[in-house]
Amino acid sequence: MRTVYVNGDYLPESEATVSIFDRGFLMADAVYEVTSVLDGRLIDFDGHMARLERSLAELEMNKPAAFDELLGIHRDLVRRNGVTEGLVYLQVTRGSAGERDFVFPDPETVAPTLVLFTQAKPGLADNPAARRGIKVISIPDIRWARRDIKTTQLLYPSMGKMMARRAGADDAWMVEEGHVTEGTSNNAYIVRGKRIITRELSSDILHGITRAAVLRLAREAQMEVEERAFTIAEAQAADEAFITSASTFVMPVVEIDGATLGDGTPGPVARRLRDIYLEESRKAAI
Ligand code: PDD
Repeated sequence: MRTVYVNGDYLPESEATVSIFDRGFLMADAVYEVTSVLDGRLIDFDGHMARLERSLAELEMNKPAAFDELLGIHRDLVRRNGVTEGLVYLQVTRGSAGERDFVFPDPETVAPTLVLFTQAKPGLADNPAARRGIKVISIPDIRWARRDIKTTQLLYPSMGKMMARRAGADDAWMVEEGHVTEGTSNNAYIVRGKRIITRELSSDILHGITRAAVLRLAREAQMEVEERAFTIAEAQAADEAFITSASTFVMPVVEIDGATLGDGTPGPVARRLRDIYLEESRKAAI
């Protein structure tokens, strides 16, 4: 049985509980981070914690613990659960005032709830899907307008994944005003010639930690990067496409709304970026 962390305690997963009045449960008043683990070490940890801090600040939520303490908890959970490859999930909620109320509770008296758990995922790096490439469909982006804050309001992204499943695809790209925002739980890219194109940062998308690392590595490898929005039609006509996230790293996309990209196999730019990202991330892991 997994050992998980809840509000200062390491407990067997069956014994870890949160109040039914917790605002994370009642109102999705919560933010989260997902950090990947390779070779038993944390990937891009500093980036995830910097984004967590920003999400908390944007929602005027208290920080549940200091950076060092959060690093210690991540490492303890990885060690206690013997995770060599997988994910660490962290969630902070505004806590429980013991009542349902739209008004935020007083942060002086109500502490945030902090929960972390691991998910072992053997084969995360050597993922067969990365050799095949994935298929995506497009769906309208009807989420709220602050997608730069990593909240747990994941109902629509979940529905998007289900729509993709039912259509025989793996994931969905969301479209707003004719342009792709991002995938249900990842950032979206196309490649034209040697140029990598991905939507610029704004409150329309989550500022992916993997995105930041991949774009930095691409530029270091002398690849051209253009940060702008693109349409589904442009993506379907592109040479390649891919997604990035902490759980998929760089994942090639080979089909968009039924249109096959190139020869239907992962393209050279996506494959190279995946290799570079995995190699550099392993080196920098903590
Ligand atoms: N999702 N966009 C959205 C909407 C996301 O939910 C995610 C991450 C990303 C990629 O961000 P990063 O590279 O920092 O993982 C982009 C995580 C993995 C999840 O919800 O499981």
